[in-house]
Amino acid sequence: MDSDSFEILPVSHGDQAEIEDLLDLSFGLGRRVKTSYRLREGQIAVDGLSFLVRDSALGLIGAISFWNLCIGHEGVPALLLGPLAVHPDLQGRGVGRALMTRGLDKARELGHQLVILVGDRPYYSRVGFDIVPDGQLLMPGPVDPRRLLYLELTPGALAHVHGQVLSPGRYRESTAERLSALAVPHG
Ligand SMILES: CC(C)(COP(=O)(O)OP(=O)(O)OC[C@H]1O[C@@H](n2cnc3c(N)ncnc32)[C@H](O)[C@@H]1OP(=O)(O)O)[C@@H](O)C(=O)NCCC(=O)NCCS
Repeated sequence: MDSDSFEILPVSHGDQAEIEDLLDLSFGLGRRVKTSYRLREGQIAVDGLSFLVRDSALGLIGAISFWNLCIGHEGVPALLLGPLAVHPDLQGRGVGRALMTRGLDKARELGHQLVILVGDRPYYSRVGFDIVPDGQLLMPGPVDPRRLLYLELTPGALAHVHGQVLSPGRYRESTAERLSALAVPHG
């Protein structure tokens, strides 16, 4: 199989169990303890931004998804890229890069401005990701700061974004908690 011989397809609901199996194979069964998973809990992947590559003989060989995030007190929107996984037997053939490129192109088309992820810079820098300046973004758990990466889909998108990175659900809860802590009791 070479890079001309695979087709990137949108993920549909029925693909999910197979994708979970691929993620277990690629990342191991302990993958859910990672901080990135705190950002996906209770959420669903962004509609129209999940893609896969399937081989008629080998089945599912790669998948990618993106998730909405809210950053800082203002809840500035951004995307989390990942998980991205390619079957161990078929790595190094351009499937990962093709999935990323398709996802990022589509995200740009949909008007998203900023993407972050936790991953290996030597790999993701190939499509333009760089390390988030130290302390600019706070993740909801431990992350090696050299692995917290960003890509601006609109130039300058990171410059005005600071603070806690949360899922939209968690952001709504934390905003409600903040407002109720500030509220003056009646009576
Ligand atoms: C990382 C991953 C998605 C790459 O997919 P892939 O289809 O093999 O990647 P591509 O074919 O597009 O690119 C291969 C190139 O990237 C390099 N590469 C792959 N993983 C890398 C990493 N972690 N760090 C640096 N370079 C890496 C390869 O050495 C190869 O280099 P070459 O082009 O100079 O030969 C795949 O290896 C994988 O699923 N790994 C396990 C899960 C994982 O770590 N996912 C990413 C974190 S979200």
